[in-house]
Amino acid sequence: MMKTVSKHGSSIALIGFMGCGKTSVAKCISRKIKLKYIDTDDEVSLAAQMSILHIFERYGESFFRELETEAVRRVSLMNDCVIATGGGIIKNEVNIQYLKMAGEVIYLNASAEQLYNNVSRNQDVNRPLLNVPGDKLTRIKSLLAEREPLYMQYSDYQADVTGLSIEETADLVIAHYNQMRS
Ligand code: S3P
Repeated sequence: MMKTVSKHGSSIALIGFMGCGKTSVAKCISRKIKLKYIDTDDEVSLAAQMSILHIFERYGESFFRELETEAVRRVSLMNDCVIATGGGIIKNEVNIQYLKMAGEVIYLNASAEQLYNNVSRNQDVNRPLLNVPGDKLTRIKSLLAEREPLYMQYSDYQADVTGLSIEETADLVIAHYNQMRS
């Protein structure tokens, strides 16, 4: 018989494309409602003892994805966390099962243009998938077209972050979280 994963956790998991604000929003939520902040990219770096960029360069994306799944598995066993995930977390359905065990999975939904502005403002070496030749906006649009249906399908709630500050987004997520728990 197939084992089904029941949803029971008290955490919040933020999913969404690079630059949608998962890390900043998760830190803000952590401050406001005292959930423990966890970032799966940090967990991966810590486990491998090297940066995301180096993992990609030396061992390739598939090894990074293995470490990412292991990090999500570990995090799913914890309670009362706010989890910022890497943008590619939806590439493996098992990750989503773990996140749903952890708690509410929330998609921070932003337009390609807003994502482009955000990733251009903060050059992040942890984003090797955007360090490719050619126009970055075109690259974002094409990756987003692949991923958006998965973000939508796998999330329990979609927060449209267009025009919202980090704090406003955090408040939106907290309101949903409180509603789900009341
Ligand atoms: C990735 C997003 C990055 C990081 C890695 C892969 C992706 O995280 O996990 O570079 O596949 O979208 P952020 O979404 O926090 O930038």
